[in-house]
Order: sequence, then C-alpha cells, then structure tokens
Amino acid sequence: MKTLQVELVGDGQNADRSYPIYIGQDLLTKSELIEPYVKGTQVLIVSNDVVAPLYLDKVKKTFAAYDVKIVILPDGEQHKNLDTVNTIFDALLDAKFDRTCTLVALGGGVVGDMTGFAAASYQRGVNFIQIPTTLLAQVDSSVGGKTGVNHPKGKNMIGAFHQPRCVIADSDTLNTLEDNQLSAGIAEVIKYGLIRDMTFTKWLEDNMQKILARDPEALAYAIEVSCKCKAEIVAEDEKEKGVRALLNLGHTFGHAIETSSGYGNWLHGEAVATGMLMAADLSMRIGNISQKDVERVDNLLDMAMLPTRAPHHMDYDHYIEIMAIDKKTRAGKINLILFKKLGDAFLTNNFSLDLLRETIDAHRAIDGK
Ligand SMILES: NC(=O)c1ccc[n+]([C@@H]2O[C@H](COP(=O)([O-])OP(=O)(O)OC[C@H]3O[C@@H](n4cnc5c(N)ncnc54)[C@H](O)[C@@H]3O)[C@@H](O)[C@H]2O)c1
Ligand SMILES: [Zn+2]
Repeated sequence: MKTLQVELVGDGQNADRSYPIYIGQDLLTKSELIEPYVKGTQVLIVSNDVVAPLYLDKVKKTFAAYDVKIVILPDGEQHKNLDTVNTIFDALLDAKFDRTCTLVALGGGVVGDMTGFAAASYQRGVNFIQIPTTLLAQVDSSVGGKTGVNHPKGKNMIGAFHQPRCVIADSDTLNTLEDNQLSAGIAEVIKYGLIRDMTFTKWLEDNMQKILARDPEALAYAIEVSCKCKAEIVAEDEKEKGVRALLNLGHTFGHAIETSSGYGNWLHGEAVATGMLMAADLSMRIGNISQKDVERVDNLLDMAMLPTRAPHHMDYDHYIEIMAIDKKTRAGKINLILFKKLGDAFLTNNFSLDLLRETIDAHRAIDGK
C-alpha cells in the first residue's frame, strides 16, 4: 500500500485539514485505515445500485463498530442533481444524525460528488470519507474537495469545497469496471501528463496496453502519479485561484459536449478526451505546438480507446452559448487551458475566436462519436 498526503493548511475552523490517500489492493476491509477518521458513532454509507451489490457488504463489515445507515442512490450522471442529494438529507434526518456523523461515499465520481456535497451542507458541514471505485474517481474526483451537482443549464454549477478526511483507493475494485469507464478514467490520467509531465506521458505511451489489461502494477503506478500530481496542485491552490485551473484541460470543450448531449450520453472522461484534442488543435492554430504534437495527443487518446471527435450537431454558436456560463468565463471572455508546449499548459483568453471556430469545425464528427 502507498500513502500520499494532501497537505492543506488550517482554515480557522480546523487547524490541519491535511489528509491521506491510501492506494493499493485489498483495502476495503481494513478498518484500521478508517478508524482515525470517524469522529462519532454515526456513519452513513452512500452508494448506488450498481456498486452496492459488488462492495457494500465488505465496507459494511469494515464499519461494523459504528451505528451504520445506508443510502442507495440510482446509478448515473442523469441523477446527479439536488433531488437525489435530498434523499441523502432525508436519510440523515430520519436517522437523527447529528454534527458528529460521518458520510462515506462508496462509488464513482457521481456518488462521491453528491455525498461530498451532502457532507458539506448537512448541518453546515460534517465528516466525510471517500472510497472511490472507478479509475476516474480514484485519480481525480475523490481528491481535492470539489463537491456538487449538475443543473439543467450547466454541469457542476451547484457545489461547495469540502475536503474528505481520507481517501481509500482500492485498485481491486477496478476489475469490475466496464471497459469504456476504465478508458474514461484514463483520460484524466493522460491529462496529468499533458499539463506538466512528459516523462509520465511517455510512460503512458509505452504502458497503455498494460493499463487496459488492468495489470495491477501498471494501474497502481498510474493512480499514484496522478494522485500525486493532483495533491500537489490542490495543496498549492485549493480554491482554484491559479494553477488548479490547469486541471481543467479539455474540460471547457468537454463540459459543452456533456451539457449539449444530455447528461449520461457522453462519459465525462470521453468528453474530456475530445476536449483535450481540441485544446491541442487550438494551441497548434495559435502557433504554440506543431501538427506532430497534435497527432501525438490524438494517438495516445486513440490507444486508450477514447473518442476524439465531438457530436456533429454542435456548431460554433452552440459552444459559445454553453461556454458563456463556464466557471472560467470572466466578463464575457472565454478562458481556456491551452498548451505553451506539450507538458506545459496555461490558462488564457488570448486567442482569436476565428481560430476557435476553425478548431470546432475540424472536430465535428461526420456521424456520431
Ligand atoms: N469533484 C471533482 O473534482 C471531479 C473531478 C472529475 C470528475 N468529477 C465528476 O465525476 C463524475 C464522473 O465520475 P465517474 O466517471 O466515476 O462516473 P460514475 O460515478 O457515474 O461511475 C461510472 C459507472 O461505473 C459504475 N461503477 C462504479 N464503480 C464501479 C465498479 N468498481 N465496478 C463496476 N461498476 C462501477 C457506476 O455505478 C457508474 O455506472 C462526473 O459527474 C464528474 O463531473 C468530479
Ligand atoms: Zn474531469
């Protein structure tokens, strides 16, 4: 087992909000990992109807020493909304849970984001533990404290920062994941390399087949490097005033694709993959990287079985309309993460909209994904 530490300074309420990420195999049953992080006796485990039949029994045993209640949410991004979060509040109030309770998220990013948001707002904030079970959640959404839900007009528009007390990433859980979900997680792994680590990008190019075959060592290494990158960036810039924005590489395009296609039709990681290629393409058009660099990104995403063409129905105006309410848009100016060079991303609004139009036109699929 590897332990990484997310180093966060105190915020006035809590002296030290630093927390560990445990990465390894066979971790779900290790009660000694969670014991230091449960404050009171009341524990609510939140999962969904796909993950619970697979792993809930194990996790329930791990929390056997506590007064445990369970909430099972419906599966899917289309349920990531306030109505679903309300069912968590209902369960907490029905059980008369107080401010010392602990919420445990067992599932992918959807369960994690909603459970975290419930933990951030129930009685103005209670204890929270993440047990992520998708690759995407293990390398990205469970680390860093962003929580929230979607609104019909925009993805993740309602939310709060609320850090977990610990994260338990058990790579064994990835063995039951669908292939396309594994690939969607790899998109975020690729993102870390492209924004600041070409040695890791090269490693991914050389080891993609092992990752796709779920080789435990390759997976553990990819999770560790990714979490380390995310932990460092979050420690530097918890509330996204600067460097943390780089983690949104491909996400402004990607969110537009997700919003426009209806939540659930494109996986988040798939949309981000296409978005990263669009960011590379625009970086090439503004003269920062070469056509060869763009092809390198395209090939890596291809190796990971990820889509790189956006839905055909999305034209320039469509993107502009959705991007206008992106959280990075300032005073009407669209901000994007682009490349200075591969392995070195930056936030900018200094690009011509004509070039953005060219990128969008070049990435509309002929027919479908
Ligand atoms: N908070 C953040 O910083 C952050 C970062 C990135 C993404 N996100 C959010 O994360 C969400 C995407 O997360 P995701 O990709 O994990 O999606 P997800 O939670 O929908 O999980 C994908 C699918 O896999 C199933 N599943 C989960 N674990 C499984 C397992 N071990 N075996 C078999 N099936 C399993 C789920 O039930 C679901 O059907 C999006 O809503 C996105 O906005 C948040
Ligand atoms: Zn993402």
